[in-house]
Amino acid sequence: MNPLFTSLYQKFLILKENSGDLESLMDQTATLLKSKIEYYDWVGFYLLDPPNNRLVLGPYKGAPTEHTHIPVGRGICGQVAETWETMTIQDVTQQENYLACSMDVRSEIVVPIMHNGIFVAQIDIDSHAFAPFTSEDEQFLAAIATQLADLF
Ligand code: SME
Repeated sequence: MNPLFTSLYQKFLILKENSGDLESLMDQTATLLKSKIEYYDWVGFYLLDPPNNRLVLGPYKGAPTEHTHIPVGRGICGQVAETWETMTIQDVTQQENYLACSMDVRSEIVVPIMHNGIFVAQIDIDSHAFAPFTSEDEQFLAAIATQLADLF
């Protein structure tokens, strides 16, 4: 991993050690990622609401979004909730099943959080940059997702 991701991952682990509950850890993690990675313009978490087969917005940093509840299958977030696989969309205009949060967003990455092999939540990052994400973003966010999964 590049030095920025390595150092942020260490900071995240310290937050995890010192944070008693999942909600505050997600909140602090969103703050950390949004403030330290310049192309992460919106960082948030969606949690699965199994009885209603939808995602519910959890802690986030960035512009408020109207998408506080997303049916499984709808948009990039809903697709990840269905496939349980990371989606990296370098140009959102090329994605038909997409829910726009703001006209400034050009690209998006959504990483599932899996607890005991079951999808429970996801990390969602929007960027105003075109095609900013690399496999290192995917690995970095997957490592954070694995750590968060313990707390579900
Ligand atoms: N763009 C997402 C919706 C959530 S916002 O990015 C915060 C989607 O297509 O699912």
